[in-house]
Amino acid sequence: NNRIKVKALLAGEPAGQQATVMGWVRTFRNNQFVALNDGSTNNNLQVVLELGKFDDTLLKRITTSAALKVTGTVVASQGKGQKLELKADTIEILGDSDAEKYPLQPKKHSLEFLREKAHLRFRTNTFGSVFRIRHSLAFAIHKFFNEKGFVYLHTPIITASDAEGAGEMFRVSTLPFDNPPRREDGTIDFSEDFFGRATNLTVSGQLEGELGATAFGEIYTFGPTFRAENSNTARHLAEFWMIEPEMAFCDLEDNANLAEEFIQYIIRYAMEHNADDLEFLRQRLLEEEKAKPQTERSELDLIQKLEFVVNNQFERITYTEAIDILLQSNHYKKKKFQYDVSWGIDMQSEHERYLVEKHFKKPVIVTNYPKDIKAFYMRQNEDGKTVAAMDILAPGIGEIVGGSQREERLERLEQRMTEMNIPHEELWWYLDTRRFGTVPHAGFGLGFERIVQFVTGMSNIRDVIAFPRTPKSAEF
Ligand code: 4AD
Ligand code: MG
Repeated sequence: NNRIKVKALLAGEPAGQQATVMGWVRTFRNNQFVALNDGSTNNNLQVVLELGKFDDTLLKRITTSAALKVTGTVVASQGKGQKLELKADTIEILGDSDAEKYPLQPKKHSLEFLREKAHLRFRTNTFGSVFRIRHSLAFAIHKFFNEKGFVYLHTPIITASDAEGAGEMFRVSTLPFDNPPRREDGTIDFSEDFFGRATNLTVSGQLEGELGATAFGEIYTFGPTFRAENSNTARHLAEFWMIEPEMAFCDLEDNANLAEEFIQYIIRYAMEHNADDLEFLRQRLLEEEKAKPQTERSELDLIQKLEFVVNNQFERITYTEAIDILLQSNHYKKKKFQYDVSWGIDMQSEHERYLVEKHFKKPVIVTNYPKDIKAFYMRQNEDGKTVAAMDILAPGIGEIVGGSQREERLERLEQRMTEMNIPHEELWWYLDTRRFGTVPHAGFGLGFERIVQFVTGMSNIRDVIAFPRTPKSAEF
């Protein structure tokens, strides 16, 4: 099979050569022009059929989404747009498609409609671009950490720990649902469960990541994580992918520096390797913007926005400064926030977006949050009120990164766990890192779908993951 991908053909193959391509029909006009797409690019290859050369039974089978194998001669294109096209010598129908029954029409469908046809939506230009960019970002993530000497650590999917202590876990169990064994006090007896204890799908690989960092120095994880939070928003999934680097000999500032460099690196990689897909999405967004009132349109287009982010430093402020900015804003004075603002609140998405979209107009790293709204493992600051936490907020999205310097002092960690009612015996293995050669260390988690949203400009997180899992929906 000596087929050439359409992207490669359009990029190089000089006119006059023989070439074989395989792909799916997007449109067929005048019994003469097939727009063939093979998934390598949104640019369809124009296949030209000489009139009278192919018989009618074959022509009838060239329908929307039929799969074809075409061999022909690469020629300079007569039409506008592309410089090359393929003059067909032989056409083989690899797979027929009943155009009457095919659920997608050769026209623009809404994203909502395509979400219901999620099994076929990869065959549209928008999703073609989104998922090629998603792929590039994933590749760039491994490339970035590999170049820096980080070890890729595979942390478990099934675990007994609730790293975030937020209780948003999906239980994993082999006990019968209808009649599980119970102890005398009525509680479920997990000693008869598969692992002999209660387990769940991981919400974060961080705690296990810390075990790796305190041996390898630097590790990262990149895998699926699960949260049973009942938030039906455009930014939440029940199953999402997270990248979690963890570094020994590292404080909060080093952590913020790495996160910024990392985000800029992967965006730059996509800009270099997916220029045509980004251009397609830029145009798509410009169309979408036209429907909005002038005042709500963004000042920068998609590519200008990405260029700005890779070429400018992120803003850095403390949580206390962030609250002050919100309190002093006209937005607050005019009571435009739905949720009230005061020191100690867990900032809502509307607050985060005000900071990045209205005030700073760039990504912002917020540090030193109140300890009462953050997880037990974060390093306590000397003020007794805050911890060495950092969140990165991005325009259009809100939080994309959550991280912190970790509490490396055994006594302080144990005291915090007691305060937060976290059983020490369940985390004995975690506490061991603080007993045997403890060091300052830090890390963060980047929500993969949120950065894909940011780079592609897609407004709904369900449109940047192949098979979205959200409350009340998991089709396949
Ligand atoms: O802020 P989070 O909860 O932090 C942690 O899990 C830490 N253990 C990370 C670490 O320090 N190693 O989650 C990290 C990021 C968020 O900033 C967000 O981008 C993403 O994960 N995220 C979600 N993305 C999609 N759907 C959800 N339900 C998400 N919950 C968190
Ligand atoms: Mg968070």
